[in-house]
Amino acid sequence: MIAFFASAPRGLEDLLLEEIRALGAAEAAAVAGGVGFSGSWETCYRVNLWSRIASRVLWRVAQFEYRDESDLYAAAHALPWPEFFDVGRTLRVNVTAQKSPLRSLEFATLRIKDAVCDRFRDALGRRPDVERASPDVRVHAFLEAQRGALYLDTSGEPLFKRGWRSQQGEAPLRENLAAGIVMLSGWQPGEPLLDPMCGAATILVEAAAMARGRAPGAKRAFGFERLKAFQPALWEKVRGEPARAGAVEPRLHASDADPEALKAARRNLAEAGVERWVAVEQADVLQRTAPAPAGVLIANPPYGERMGTPEELAQFYPALGSALKKNFAGWRCFILTADLRLPKLIRLQPSRRTPLWNGALECRLYEFRMVAGSNRG
Ligand SMILES: C[S@@+](CC[C@H](N)C(=O)[O-])C[C@H]1O[C@@H](n2cnc3c(N)ncnc32)[C@H](O)[C@@H]1O
Repeated sequence: MIAFFASAPRGLEDLLLEEIRALGAAEAAAVAGGVGFSGSWETCYRVNLWSRIASRVLWRVAQFEYRDESDLYAAAHALPWPEFFDVGRTLRVNVTAQKSPLRSLEFATLRIKDAVCDRFRDALGRRPDVERASPDVRVHAFLEAQRGALYLDTSGEPLFKRGWRSQQGEAPLRENLAAGIVMLSGWQPGEPLLDPMCGAATILVEAAAMARGRAPGAKRAFGFERLKAFQPALWEKVRGEPARAGAVEPRLHASDADPEALKAARRNLAEAGVERWVAVEQADVLQRTAPAPAGVLIANPPYGERMGTPEELAQFYPALGSALKKNFAGWRCFILTADLRLPKLIRLQPSRRTPLWNGALECRLYEFRMVAGSNRG
């Protein structure tokens, strides 16, 4: 059994735990920011390929106690790094800390990097090169007050990079957060789904991939392919496993007021190969009608941090509330925002509010069940 840690956007740990259990992990437990689990390499490959929620899957190679940088050096130097990866691979070390007594994380990073390189030099007379932008191998150190752990990254590029996005659009959601929102909404692939402020269509691409049972990692490479422990035949087997869900023909709808956003949406939907299931139109959310008598609406309006001023939004929310009431009776509506004034200003009573983090930004996913005539807050 190997120890792994899968990280995820905060707020999605329980969904990640469910996913990881379903993918065959032996023991799994959620903590803030992710899920620790044990399993085989097969499980690790499968989680990398199939998790829609994880940001990275890390292989834990050491746990230690420390007081200062020289303890970090010793802990890192004790590991047989040349057995983990080839000296010709490029390397990057990342340090994350919570309540660590160390003054400089940069210095801590340097000491760990030195320890890794010194192990190589002692064994082979050569050391790996450091590469910050796109390293072959990533080492992560996680430091608490007195304890630390070292990890090798089995994902490489973070898993929310699925390999289909060519268009950023403005303020796009990360793919794993978008997938998590769709899961939290309880949307079933047979139901209509509308994102009326779709931007670059991240939410709909994720929903389509779920409905079609497509592996989120099918179009990308992984860090584990560059480790010495890599087993190509096992990876081929995992990659060849059948889809984990039936292939439903989803009914998805995208609209946005901004023609530029729609261009980005169309490009992304095409790159992801899901455009045939998504009807795209230009429309103002305040004016458009529902594409079906009932369904799920998910929207991620601008929220004053990156787009839209607080004053503009204070005018927009009441209008949005009225539009939902008038045009979306029978729909379950979900709005993700970092603007905690929303429930008051929208004048609808949320039936659920789920805290979620969009990077460092604390957000809420509000659910409004639009039953005609019963929603005045
Ligand atoms: C934060 S972005 C959505 C990003 C999207 N979730 C993604 O991941 O790419 C907000 C979007 O709302 C759109 N928008 C703003 N006001 C709108 C309105 N009244 N009607 C429709 N769309 C609007 C903007 O054009 C922008 O694309």
